[in-house]
Amino acid sequence: MDKIIKKLDLMSNEELHDPSISANKLLNGERAFFYDLYDPPFYILSRYDDINKALRDPDTFLEGYGNGPNFISSNGIVSDGDHHTFIRRIVQPNFLMGSIRNLETRLEEITDDLLSDINDREVWDIHDDLSFPLPVIIICEILGIPTDDIKKFKGWADAAVAQMCSEEPETFEKELDKMNDYFLLLINKKRSIPEDESLISKIANSKINDKYLADDEAVLLIKQIFVAGNETTTSLISNLVWRMLSIDNLWEDFVNDRLEIDGLISESLRYDPPLLGLFKTTSRDVTYDNVTIPSNTKVMMHYGAANRDSEIFDNPNKFDSTRDGKKVISFSVGIHICLGRELAKLETRVALRALRKKFPNLKLINNGQRVGPFLFWGRSKLPVSHN
Ligand code: HEM
Repeated sequence: MDKIIKKLDLMSNEELHDPSISANKLLNGERAFFYDLYDPPFYILSRYDDINKALRDPDTFLEGYGNGPNFISSNGIVSDGDHHTFIRRIVQPNFLMGSIRNLETRLEEITDDLLSDINDREVWDIHDDLSFPLPVIIICEILGIPTDDIKKFKGWADAAVAQMCSEEPETFEKELDKMNDYFLLLINKKRSIPEDESLISKIANSKINDKYLADDEAVLLIKQIFVAGNETTTSLISNLVWRMLSIDNLWEDFVNDRLEIDGLISESLRYDPPLLGLFKTTSRDVTYDNVTIPSNTKVMMHYGAANRDSEIFDNPNKFDSTRDGKKVISFSVGIHICLGRELAKLETRVALRALRKKFPNLKLINNGQRVGPFLFWGRSKLPVSHN
């Protein structure tokens, strides 16, 4: 068994293209696995119970030095204690169920619009034509950012997720500075006019002890919301369409209304988590069996493994949309539980309903391409046809 575990290589071609292989290796290895193929090395937790407990213990497992493997000074909503509570309170109301439900009609309009010119095309792409633009447009509308330069946003969002996973994060700084400048301009504009309904206006006008949020923190918060909500939701939509078109009769059963949409979504999140894992920083030594993770160490919470832990999920390597999805951990749990989870699910529901209605004969051309960064799991290309 040890021999198999030694071969764990998250960046290998094989594991990048099938993260269930890493999950399986981890679940058969030590509870706290020391991964030294990355600089700096880190630990990985994989058992559902260990991760669930760790995420509910934010005093020990801090946001600390950011959600990636590198030690990067972190702030905005990726923060701890009172600061995190304060920041989360500013933005949370915009993502509560009540506010999200109001977006359904608008999401349907955007989706119809995106799919309106597809009919005549023999081959098109789920990622490029639907699952990438839909989340970007809606998050821009929530924030109050003009959507006219969507390609520029795509470049920045890609740079931000690549930076999070890279051993050389500084290489992305130049590109990301452009994003910072763009958001700062918007903040200053919002501060010069009366507060409006957009989230940027709210962030721009929020105050700690009677002072506006510092410029760099306001910029960071907008960036975090913008980035967190895009690539992940894009991947949820494309991963689910990919599986439905590749596994048995899933698509046909869905088209014929034999499968519940919400069951499909939660099973997709379990089986193909858009974020395979995120990192915390330990504030003290923590011991799992005979392995002690030292204080001030990066620890990856491997959601992909936890979601396939057979102690919790029967027959975990089977895609089964009828299973109870309550324990799926892909949106995290505890005080940092994903703020945008209801929005992501609603976007996916709307996209799937529209695809089913317009293109019941949808077919996969091939498996497309995997997104680049190792922590993320989704399709950056997914070509389909519909005749
Ligand atoms: C399928 C889509 C999504 C997945 C899989 C996902 C996943 C996650 C996860 C795992 C976390 C926990 C981070 C941690 O423990 O530190 C998180 C936090 C967060 N997510 Fe999402 N997310 C998704 C969509 C969205 C959307 C649409 C938004 C829109 C705004 C969003 C905004 C956030 C924010 C702001 C946080 C930080 C919350 C905090 O630290 O208090 N996410 N997300």
